[in-house]
Formats: sequence, structure tokens, C-alpha cells
Amino acid sequence: MAPCVLASFDWSEAKLHSGSGTGVGKKHWPMGQTDFGEAKRRIAQLRDEINYHAYRYHTLDDPVISDAEYDRLMGELRALEEAHPPLVTPDSPTQRVGAQPMDQFEKVVHPVPMTSLGNAFDDEDLQAWLVRIGRLLPDDISVTDLAFVVEPKFDGLAVALTYENGILLRGATRGNGVEGENVTANLRTVKNIPLRIPASSAGPSPPSRIEVRGEIYIPIADFNELNRRQSERGERLYANPRNAAAGAVRQLDSRITAQRPLAFFAYAIGYVEGVQQEPEGHAIGCQWEALDYLRRLGFPVNPDIKRSRDLEEVLDFIHQWTERRQDLPYEADGVVVKVDAFALQELLGVVGNAPRWAIAYKFPAREATTKLLRIDVNVGRTGVLTPYAVLEPVNVGGVTVRQASLHNFEDLARKDVREGDTVIIKRAGDVIPQVVKPILDLRLPDSQPYQLPERCPSCGEPAVKPEDEVAVYCVNAACPAQLVRRVEYFVSRGAMDIEGFGIRIAQQLIQEGLIRDVGDIYALDEKRDQLLALEGFAEKKIDNLLAAIQASKSQPLERVATALGIQGIGNVVARALVGAFPSMEALASVGVEELEAVEGIGPHIAHSVVDWFSRPRHQQVVEKLRRAGLQMEAETAALSPQPLAGLTFVITGTLPAMSRDQAKAFIEAHGGKVTNSVSRQTDYLLLGENPGGKLAKAQSLGTKIIGEDELRVLAGQ
Ligand code: IVH
Repeated sequence: MAPCVLASFDWSEAKLHSGSGTGVGKKHWPMGQTDFGEAKRRIAQLRDEINYHAYRYHTLDDPVISDAEYDRLMGELRALEEAHPPLVTPDSPTQRVGAQPMDQFEKVVHPVPMTSLGNAFDDEDLQAWLVRIGRLLPDDISVTDLAFVVEPKFDGLAVALTYENGILLRGATRGNGVEGENVTANLRTVKNIPLRIPASSAGPSPPSRIEVRGEIYIPIADFNELNRRQSERGERLYANPRNAAAGAVRQLDSRITAQRPLAFFAYAIGYVEGVQQEPEGHAIGCQWEALDYLRRLGFPVNPDIKRSRDLEEVLDFIHQWTERRQDLPYEADGVVVKVDAFALQELLGVVGNAPRWAIAYKFPAREATTKLLRIDVNVGRTGVLTPYAVLEPVNVGGVTVRQASLHNFEDLARKDVREGDTVIIKRAGDVIPQVVKPILDLRLPDSQPYQLPERCPSCGEPAVKPEDEVAVYCVNAACPAQLVRRVEYFVSRGAMDIEGFGIRIAQQLIQEGLIRDVGDIYALDEKRDQLLALEGFAEKKIDNLLAAIQASKSQPLERVATALGIQGIGNVVARALVGAFPSMEALASVGVEELEAVEGIGPHIAHSVVDWFSRPRHQQVVEKLRRAGLQMEAETAALSPQPLAGLTFVITGTLPAMSRDQAKAFIEAHGGKVTNSVSRQTDYLLLGENPGGKLAKAQSLGTKIIGEDELRVLAGQ
């Protein structure tokens, strides 16, 4: 019997081995005159290198090269693949961006069913489970001999990833456990799912075939950011990370999935064939070793897991995480307890659609009932007014809750939440507590439906609700509450990252009239005396603050573009924008169509950008920032490559997704040129339906003819 079957396992060995990859050679390749064979070699080398760095970054959270260097490697790979389209393969890191939309998902039958889990709701349930198991064990093994692996139970979406000879071939949802959906294109966009294994050259050789099972989830911090952006755009908020993740995985357009902050944790091997000879001490006879193997292959494996010898240890683990579940960076709804040894798992088998050898101990629901004292309104930096509930303090899952989100006025009206109601409050992970619903039986007889605010609670100006939006706004440009939020956002970590500058300081400086717009932040060094007069501002604090402000001047353009606080522009979009329009001047003068031609930018954002820059007040702020010495040009390394540079295109016919103007803007945004008639100078004819005479001309000249899809590939999209 393998050493890990029983608790007599040698505990000195019981540590997961952490990967210690050394990376691949960093030889630089002269670009330009590569022939096919050389390109092939360099492409393979670049992919290895990029895969390794993606693994360091997304799985180990320990990058060894800068973002700019990573972008350079990606740019080089993209350029080589564009020059040699037959060399593009689905496992290339360039293919994480998403593929063409599909009409529907193909069904996939799981070779080994993906079972569900039985539940335990308290310690007695768990003990009863152990007793049941005990009865089924052979005479020579007692329950007290067992070892268990205990793992937080992710509240996400189960998927199965199939690799053949180290290449990710297929990704499927669990579906009903027997049959799922083929969501390969979507799962390829998940950054910590290796497209190739091992992810590091230090890992073991890949098995000939393996199905890795695990959970797709959205980290809580990313989820909050996602909802913050949704709310900023006046769009519907996601109810919880699970729904948002499930929606993204089942998206028919994987380019949209690629923009969601999905992540993966591997928790099991569905089946494996042809495991390569493993060095001494690397058997895969139990769950603990399987997780170690997966980790060494480069899969992200949850670090918050434990191997336990007895019920007491198992319960300890469960009780600890029940208390501290809010410390987990992902949503968990319980702990999965698994019998460690595969031989015993097999022996215990499956009953119905749940294995006998594992059980999910569910955390108690984090809901509570309390009184809603008042409905207050918060003013966001874009002027969005959002209602929130002020509550009689209540303990929910170990945390005292005094306020809860009411999302937006539409949601509030739908639930008909009223002041004075007794309401159910729910906490989901670190997400702001929410008001689930009022308890109507306990409603006070004189309660009144909530009325939309007519005025901004901060400046008293009239509130406005645009017809086509859910959100209600304060449109007063001088509203102090908005300014506080704008400054808070401008100095925040994801934007200019000015250390020591928080909302309190923003409030103080705005109240004292030292800041009237974000541009004034850079004039604070001329107002030292006024700063010294403020409460809590000593010399040292002022020195530090001014130094941090000064340091922020070297933040790259994409940070400056983020910090402006344009609706819908967070880090990711700003990066795409700056990639396509590498100076503030270019950004300020670009039109809606050109913007829409950039990958990841839809009509909403495009209008938002154009509208923002069209306002004289904003132009003045940008001018102030320019004079203060902020970066107004993109750093060359951060520039997105201009893959179409030097190429001339002619467009004919109706394209499937882009209008002609959009196609023209797209080509130009990627460095290409568009002319009206086909000549020897034309590199590509972009062909749509019902083409004109240009097609015959191109054929006669031997001009290359491509469709919209190929254009995107050429442009590295
Ligand atoms: S093991 C036979 N481990 O729970 C057990 N499942 O399975 C197979 N889940 O939707 C699953 N975290 O996605 C396992 N650490 C974990 C898990 C986990 C979450 C989910 C799984 C499935 C459900 C029931």
C-alpha cells in the first residue's frame, strides 16, 4: 500500500513542494529577416518564455521580469505569428484574447462523471459521515487510521480541462455532471490556466493525457472592482462573484470572457494516462500527492489546504475557517473533507451522484435580520447617486454590520425597501453587505414607499435621471462630494498612487479650498504655509505628502488616463486606449469610431471618452496636469505594437461585424493604411459580402485577399 494511504504517513514529507523554475534562456533574436525555420524556433522559444513568466505572475504571484519586458516578448511573438500565420497554434499565449463568437456550445460527455458532494451542516453530521465510512472499511483499517485532505470549498464553477501531450485540448463545464458544455475558447482566456504543461521547465514531463478538475472563480477584490466599474457606468451590478464567473464562462463571445477577471484553482485529477516516470518520492497515490503533482505541472493549487490525521484536526480546520472565512481572497461556502488515499476512495465508491469518500461541510449562512433605520444617498465621483441602508448594528458571521448596499434606486424600488422596515442582510465574502429583502409581516403600518431624491445630498442641486439609464446623477460640476471622490480616485493605488493621500486629506483640502480640481494637487507645494495651518499637518507629514505627489509625476500615461476618472476607464481600458493612442493629445482628439475600433472598447466607453475631453473644464484640468509635468506621452515599451505598420489595405463589400468606417479606423489604429483602389502597392484586399470590381482587380494582380477574421489575427487581436 502506498505510504499515504494511512495516517502513518511520514509527516516530515507532508509539505507541498513549491516549484523552483529557473526560466528559459533569454537570448534575444534579431527581428526582421527570419526565415520560416528560424521563426518557428524563435516562436517556440518565446512561447516557453512567455508561458513561464505568465506562470510566475498569475500562478506563483512572483514575477521575475517587468510588465514592459513581458509586453515586449508578447509583441515579438505576435509579430512573428502575424508574419507566419501557419505557425499560430491554439496553445500560443497570443490566443488568450478570445476567439470569434459562437452560436451555441457543443455538448461534451465527461469520460468520468463529475459528481456532486454530500453536505454536512454541523459537527454531528460530519461525525455521522465518519461512522458511515467506518462501517465500509475493511477489517484491518479503522477510521482512526485515515488521513484526510481538507480544502475550502470554492463557490465558483466546476470545470474539467483535458490536456493531451501537455497541450490544453478542451475545457468543459460540469453541466449536469454527465454532460457539460465545451467552453475551451473561454477557458483559454483564463490567465492562470496553463495552455501547456508543465508551465515551468522544472516541472515533470507531461502525462500523455490528463483531465484536471477545478473551479473557475473571481477573486473578491477583482469582483468588487468589476462591480465598481459597472456602477460607474450605470450598469447592472453582478449579484455575487459566482454569478459573474458563471456568466463569463458561458459567454458565447470569448473576447468578452477575456475581459473578466477569472481565475482557476485545480482540486482534482479526473483521470490520467501515461504519467512519465517520476523521481523517488513523487508517487500519486492520494489526493495530497495529486495536488502536489498538479502544482508541479504548473496548475494553481489552493495554498489554504491541509492534510489532517483525525477528526479533531479536521474539525479544527473547519472551525478556523468558519471564523476567518472573510480572510480568504475568494468566496468559499464551506470546507470539503476528502479521504486522502485513492485506494480507499475507490473502495468507498460513489452513491447516487456523490462520492462516499468526500463531504462538503457548509459554512453557516451569513445572513441576519435587523432594522433599517434610514436610507441615505452616496455621491460617486461621476455624480452617480447610490442609496444605502443605515442599519441598527447587527453581527453577521462575526462582523458588525452598520450599513448595507441597496445597489441602485431601481433595485430598491423593486424590493420595495422602506425606512423602518425589518430587513434581511446578507454578507457574501468581502463584498459589501446587501439588503436582501424586507420582512413584510413585520412592516410598520405607517411605513411609506421610498421617494427618489430630488436633490443631491451634498450640494443640493437637482438630481437628474437620464431616460436610458438606471442611475440617478448629480450633474453639478462643482459638487464638493464628487470632487472628494474624484480626488480620492485620482490619488488611489490603481491611479496616480500617491502614498499617504487618502479620503480624509482629500476632504480636508477641499473643505479648505486648497483643491478645486485634481490639477491643484500639484500646486500644493506652493501652499506649504496653508498646509501647516491645517489640523494634523506637521512638517514631516507635509514633506512626505509633497514628495509622494512629486513622485507620482513619473507615473506612465496609462495611469494618468485612468486617474482622470472618465466613466468606464479603469486600468485595463486605459492600457488599451494608450496602446492605440499613445499621447494625451491623441486621446483628447480621437473620435468615437476610431475608439470603437480598439479591442475592448465599446460604444459606451467610446462616447464617454469623447464626451469627457469635449468639456472645457476637463481640458483645463488636463492642461494643468501637463504644466505640472505629468506624463503626457506613452512610454515606448508600453506602446502596443503597430502590427499593420507599412501595410496598405483596400476594403470591398460588406463585412460581417465592422462597418467600413470601423474597419478603416481599426486598420489605422494598428498602424496600417487604407486606400480606395487596388494597385500593386496594395498588400491586402479586405473582402466582405457582395464585393465590387476590386476583387477581380486584386485577383488579377495576385493581391492577398483576407476576411475580417484574418484582419484581426494580423492585427494581433
Ligand atoms: S472535489 C468528488 N474540491 O463542489 C468530489 N469540489 O463537487 C469532487 N467544489 O461544483 C469535487 N471546491 O466545483 C472539490 N476543493 C474542492 C471544491 C469542490 C468547490 C465544488 C465543485 C462542485 C461542487 C461539488
